[in-house]
Amino acid sequence: MMKKVPENAVICGNSIEEMKKIPDNSVHLLLSDIPYGIGLEDWDVLHANTNSAYGGSSPAQGKAGSVFKKRGKPINGWSEADKRIPYEYQEWCASWASEWLRVLKPGGSVMIFAGRRFSHRCIVALEDAGFNLRDMLGWTRPKAAHRAQRLSLVYDKRGDTASSEFWQGWRVGNLKPTFEPIIWAFKPYKVTIADNVLEHGLGAYNHEKFKEYFGSIDNHFECGMSAGEGGLHPAQKPIKLMEVLIDLVTVPGQIVVDPFAGSGTTGVAAKNLGRKYILIERSPELCEVVAERLDKINQPPLF
Ligand SMILES: C[S@@+](CC[C@H](N)C(=O)[O-])C[C@H]1O[C@@H](n2cnc3c(N)ncnc32)[C@H](O)[C@@H]1O
Repeated sequence: MMKKVPENAVICGNSIEEMKKIPDNSVHLLLSDIPYGIGLEDWDVLHANTNSAYGGSSPAQGKAGSVFKKRGKPINGWSEADKRIPYEYQEWCASWASEWLRVLKPGGSVMIFAGRRFSHRCIVALEDAGFNLRDMLGWTRPKAAHRAQRLSLVYDKRGDTASSEFWQGWRVGNLKPTFEPIIWAFKPYKVTIADNVLEHGLGAYNHEKFKEYFGSIDNHFECGMSAGEGGLHPAQKPIKLMEVLIDLVTVPGQIVVDPFAGSGTTGVAAKNLGRKYILIERSPELCEVVAERLDKINQPPLF
């Protein structure tokens, strides 16, 4: 069957399959906030799910019985199931990385939000597929929930006053997670970068445009949502953040693809900036949200 590039499409389906229908060398930017593989919701669980922290149960946890309440125990690396999770995440990334390389034009970028815990696994899968890593950008969220249990309270509950006093001020968990990494890799090209830009319109970055957003060209920046923007997806990203990344490496009329679209923020940003978009999302409810958001944008496409 002849493959054709769909234009400004919202595809409701499994992106691993849907990406196979997109022609070779046809896409200018793959921009996606992929599942991080760390949450409890179905859309984020990508591994064999044999760990109680993710709602599953490993043989060892099964034997231990009620000691581990379902969804109550953080991953601590104690079981074989814990140890497999990063590898399973990498295997999952490898299941789509080659298709992403195939559909991108030479010099085209992938920009991926993959989370702090497993983004290195995603990078390895991208490199194995043939991508070159260009940089790791740092996005700072103005707000983030901070959950880290006070150690002294644990000892208080045990009636161990001495330990509680000694460990005052200590917590179990992470610092406030305001930093999110953005992987920036590109598809290698066989000519000089200047020739690649002339042939495909890809390979360089828009230095001056980026400065307009942040006043500098630092590879880490803060960006938050505008009032009333949130509430559509638990992992919703700011529209401006996606606009920055689209403006950094594409020009109007080029094609931006988001294979894990969620509420469609990438598409909203692409449409705002006059880029073409292909969004893939497997949840039918979210596909409706995406369609509604895109419908509300009146700005005529610039191409
Ligand atoms: C991190 S969220 C994206 C959120 C998005 N950035 C936003 O602003 O709303 C990832 C999305 O990928 C979707 N997803 C997970 N696996 C998928 C698959 N195989 N095919 C299509 N969508 C998938 C999930 O349903 C989820 O909505």
